[in-house]
Amino acid sequence: MAAPRFTKFDHKPRVIVTRRLPQAVETRMAELFDVTLNLDDHPMTREELLAAVAEAEVLAPTVTDTIDAGLIAAAGPQLKLIANFGVGVDHIDLAAARARGITVTNTPGVLTDDTADLVMALILAVPRRIAEGERIIRDGSWTGWSPTGMLGHRITGKRLGIVGMGRIGQAVAARARAFGLSIHYHNRNRLPKAVEGPLEATWWPTLDAMLARVDIVSLNCPETPETHHIIDARRLKLMQRHAFLINVARGTLIDEAALVAALEAGHIAGAGLDVFEHEPAIHPGLLGRPDVVLLPHMGSATFEARQEMGEKVITNIRVFADGHRPPDQVLEDY
Ligand code: DGY
Repeated sequence: MAAPRFTKFDHKPRVIVTRRLPQAVETRMAELFDVTLNLDDHPMTREELLAAVAEAEVLAPTVTDTIDAGLIAAAGPQLKLIANFGVGVDHIDLAAARARGITVTNTPGVLTDDTADLVMALILAVPRRIAEGERIIRDGSWTGWSPTGMLGHRITGKRLGIVGMGRIGQAVAARARAFGLSIHYHNRNRLPKAVEGPLEATWWPTLDAMLARVDIVSLNCPETPETHHIIDARRLKLMQRHAFLINVARGTLIDEAALVAALEAGHIAGAGLDVFEHEPAIHPGLLGRPDVVLLPHMGSATFEARQEMGEKVITNIRVFADGHRPPDQVLEDY
C-alpha cells in the first residue's frame, strides 16, 4: 500500500539536487531547505544516485539522471518527492514511483516559448542550409555570391506536420503560421475548434497518412512506451523525398540508425535534431552530413527558462513540504 502523501513536514526538507542549477535558484534552495548541491556539476553516477535516494526526502534530478524502477526500489522510506528540473519525465519510472507513494513533479509551461523558438530555428536552418553556410564562411571556402550558390528551399507555403499538439506543439504552430506554413497535426485527440480555428490547423487521426502529405515534420510529443521510435524505418519511407524532420523533443522518438539509413538512401531531404537517442553520443552517420543540423539539447537553454524552471522546482518542494498537492504533480499517464 502506497504511503499517505501530502503530509506536512515538521522540519526543513532534506533535498539533494543532482546538477548545478542557476545561482539564484541554488541560493534560495539553501535558504529554504536542508540542501546538498552538486557544485562541480558532474552527471551523478549510479552509485551517487543510490546514495542520494537512500538519504534524500526530496530528489531534484534532471534529464541526465536515470530514475528507474531499480533506483526507486533502493530508495529509503524517507524519499517522498522527486521534483524534476525539466518538463520531460521519461527518465523517471512513474509507475514505480507511484507504487512507492513517491510524488513526481516537473516544470511545464515556462520553457514552452523558448523550445518552440528553437523548433522554428531548425525549421529555417535545415531547408535554408544556414549551418552549412556558416561553416563555409569559417572554413574559408566561400568564394562569393553566385546565382546558384547555397540554394535551399522556401518554407512559406509548405505544409508543417506537428506530432503532438500540446503546449509546445501549439506554440510551434502559432509561430509557423506567421512564416506562412500551413498547420497539420497528429494527436491522440482532436483539439477544440477554438484552438484549431485561429491556427487553421488540420487534424490527422493517423500519423502515417499525415507523414505522407507534409513537407516538414516536427516532433513535439513526450517519450512514452507508445511514442518510442514513433519515427522508424517504415515511417521514414512514408515521408516525401523532399521532406525535412525536426526533433526538439526526445531523441528516442526516432530510430536514429533508421534515420541515417533514410538520409543515405534519399528517403527524406534532411533533419534538424536538438536531441539524440543515446545522448550525449551522436550517431557517427549523422556527423559528416551537410543535410542535418545538430544542436546539443538546448531547447530550454535560456537564462529566463532555466531560472523559471528552478523557481517551479522550489515551489513544488515548498508546497509539498507544507502538506499540499504540488502545482506540477505529474500524473502517470501524462
Ligand atoms: C525538458 O525540460 O524536458 C528539457 O528537455 C530539459 O530536460
